[in-house]
Formats: sequence, C-alpha cells, structure tokens
Amino acid sequence: MNITVSGGAEMRKSLLAGIRSRKARIAVIGLGYVGLPLALGFAARGFKTYGIDTNPVRVKKLLDGESFITDVTDAAIAGPVKKGLFVPSLDEALIGACQVAIICVPTPIKRRYTPDISFIISAVRAVTRNLAKGTLVVLESTTYPGTTEELILPELEKSGLKAGKDFFLAFSPERVDPGNASHSVTQIPKVVGGLTPACNEVTAALYGSIIKQIHLVSSPRAAEMTKLLENTFRLINIGWVNEAAMMCQAFKIDVWEAIDAAGTKPFGFMPFYPGLGVGGHCIPEDPIYLYWKAKQHGYASRFIKLSADINSAMPGYAAERIGAILKKRGKKLSGARVLVLGVTYKKDVKDLRKSPSVKLIEVLRRQGAEVSFYDPLIPFLNIDGLQMEGAAFSPRILAAQDCVAVAVDHSKVDYALVLKHARAVFDIRNVYRGKVSPKITRL
Ligand SMILES: NC(=O)c1ccc[n+]([C@@H]2O[C@H](COP(=O)([O-])OP(=O)(O)OC[C@H]3O[C@@H](n4cnc5c(N)ncnc54)[C@H](O)[C@@H]3O)[C@@H](O)[C@H]2O)c1
Repeated sequence: MNITVSGGAEMRKSLLAGIRSRKARIAVIGLGYVGLPLALGFAARGFKTYGIDTNPVRVKKLLDGESFITDVTDAAIAGPVKKGLFVPSLDEALIGACQVAIICVPTPIKRRYTPDISFIISAVRAVTRNLAKGTLVVLESTTYPGTTEELILPELEKSGLKAGKDFFLAFSPERVDPGNASHSVTQIPKVVGGLTPACNEVTAALYGSIIKQIHLVSSPRAAEMTKLLENTFRLINIGWVNEAAMMCQAFKIDVWEAIDAAGTKPFGFMPFYPGLGVGGHCIPEDPIYLYWKAKQHGYASRFIKLSADINSAMPGYAAERIGAILKKRGKKLSGARVLVLGVTYKKDVKDLRKSPSVKLIEVLRRQGAEVSFYDPLIPFLNIDGLQMEGAAFSPRILAAQDCVAVAVDHSKVDYALVLKHARAVFDIRNVYRGKVSPKITRL
C-alpha cells in the first residue's frame, strides 16, 4: 500500500492537543480480557472512555460495576462508571462522538488452520458507519500480517474518508498476560505500527499517556508480525519442552531437574515448562494466523504445524502415563477413579477456553475412567458439551481416588493435603518440586 500523504497538519495538531489535555474521547470496541483493562486504563487517566460491546450481559454487568475478568476488580469498574469516565454501552453510534476508536475483538480460528476474522470485520464496519474526520483507528486484536492495510483500510475508506489523510490508522498489539500481577497493561512496553509517520505520532501520544514505553515500527504489518513472532515463539518452545519431557521419560531423567539446571545459564537459554499443552485464546490460535498467511504466499510453516501437533497430543500422552501409574498399582484405567486437579487453561486464571485439562478429562472418560475434577476457580464445568459438577476438596474425596492428576498449578490449592490423602499423584506441573515420595510421579 503506497500512502504518501501524512495526516493533515490541523487534524494532527487537534488530536494531539485532545490527547494531551485528556479531552479526546475514546471508544474501546470489545470489552474482554484485552479491551476492559485498556478502557479502564484510559478512564483512570481522565479520558472519557466508551466501552462498546455486542454482548448485552457483559454491558449490563459493567454498568452494575461487576467484573467478569480475573484481573479486574468490581471496584475498578464501579468507580469510573459512577464518575461517568467509563461508559459501557451496546450503542455503536457513540463511536461517532469519539476521536479514537480501538478495536479489541476476538480473533478465533474457524476450522483447523483457518482464521475467523468475522469479529474484526463487523467491528470495523461499525467504526466505518460512525467514522468522523480526524479520528484515530487502532486495531489491537491479534491477527495475520497485512490485516490492517489489506482488510481494514479499504473497509474504513468505504466511509468516503481517506486513510492517512482524513483519519489515522495503526496496529498496536496487546501483550497483556492474564493472571500476571507483575506486568499490568500500563507497564508492558507497547509496540505501535502506524500507516504513516503522523499515524505513528498520534498513536504513540495516545498510548504514551497511559504506558511508559512505546516502541515504534515502520508499518502496521511489522507490528502485526511482532505479536505473532512472540506468541509463535511460545508455542514452539512449549512444544519443544513437551517433546523433551517425553524423551526424558524414556531416558529415566527428571526433565524438571534438567530445565532448572539449564536455567542457571546466564545467556542463550530461557526456561519453558512442560504440561498438558497450550490453551486460552492466544497461543493455540495466533500462530495459526501466521501459518495461514504464510500458506497464502506458498510457504508451509513446519515449526508451527509440528509444535501445534506435539502440544495437542499431550492430553493423550498424560492419559497414557496415568494408565501406567495405575497398572503399577494393579489397576486398569478403565473403571479407575481419577480426579483432575485444575481445569482452567492456566494457573490462577478463570478461563476455560481451549483448556487442555478439559481435553484430558475427555480422553480419560473415553478410555473408561471415572473422572471427577476439582478447581478452586471453577465450581461447574460446562464446555464443549461436557457438563460436570466440581468435586469437594476433602480428605475423603482425595482418598477415594485411584489417582489425582495435578493438571494446573493453581496457587489456592493445599497440595500437602492432596499428597497426604491421595493414593497416587501424577504431578503434571511439578507442584511437588524436589519432593520425594513413592506416591508422586512427575511428567
Ligand atoms: N486474552 C488474552 O490474554 C490476550 C492477550 C493479548 C492479545 N489478545 C488478543 O486480543 C483480542 C481480544 O481477545 P480477548 O481475550 O479480549 O477476547 P474476549 O473474548 O475476552 O473479549 C472480546 C469481546 O469482544 C466482544 N465483541 C465481539 N464482537 C464484537 C463487535 N463486533 N463489536 C463489539 N464487541 C464485540 C465480545 O462480546 C467480548 O466481550 C484477540 O485478538 C486476542 O487474540 C488476547
């Protein structure tokens, strides 16, 4: 895309002044794990922020000052809502009253290896219908390189306004890590890729008002690729460490010991830990966007496919290992009582999306095990046709199991109690680091 016109000088001056004075109004479209903390970040700095979402249940909860996201407290919502600084709404027309529109909608995959960009399209269409001259439009949703320039730009120009001339356009990936209290949205450096130098300048000024460090890149494409580089790096390294765990089992080596030892190297090594694979909305899905885009260019990424395959095989491998533990104790998996401890996709986060623990439950059930689960964050499991009530966390329940599989290392679990009462524990997350007991088998 060859755009040489930079944003009109007056338009640029006026937006920068609005950002500096906090008078610019901001619309955040999509109020989930990404959009909600971001909207609250702007509201906390005094910007009037409209939160636009298509989900009436979510909007109602927010208006009532109720959070649905682990890292966001009710109080963090109720205060700004009461002050009128954060306005959750279903009404897309409010975008027309804003100088900034930031899109944070989901980017799932449709079938295996095909991106579903329908949420982006529908959010961009809402912006197009309400686009005023001089607005800055930023996409934060993770997506394939080229989305902003090849898809969003032409869609927005259907308004009759020209990108880079009548409105500003940029991509800025979100790097929030749910459940990670030491790196909040405002503390993580923000990568910004604008369509023109002026787009970069206004976008950097916007995020600079809530985030300390802004890193500019030369194009939206480069910023889109940055996010996929980061998340694909995780997918591949988790795939590798899971493969290493399976090898170590064959070698009778404790993989955790080897990772800890390798972690003492002060350069060139970064520890990743094995487990049931990857879950959530990001790591299983984002690399597929890259895989798909590469394929459009005739390139089949072997790393992405291989890592995704290894990670998705982990629940099956874990079930095999549970079968082996039971066999040693003279039991068969079929008919055995197995309690899966932890069902969310990661530690201390109340999110079941693509959780590999749920896959483990399914595999164990298919093989005839009598499966129950306990998770301090999930009392009832209702996902992918699987409906189960969580077990009580008690010595009696623990003692009644043939095997307890620690699938997620939630902080709020008394692992000493588990070890005391369970007959056998399969420690998939190394919660019993360094502990020696005939009851413990590590991944
Ligand atoms: N969850 C994470 O940890 C994380 C981290 C970094 C980046 N991302 C990326 O950010 C994007 C959003 O992810 P999320 O986890 O916040 O998703 P989410 O599902 O938690 O929230 C998305 C919200 O968008 C709303 N929505 C859907 N279509 C809409 C539309 N047309 N208009 C207005 N609202 C709409 C949904 O109702 C929902 O409330 C994705 O691209 C994701 O890959 C997520």
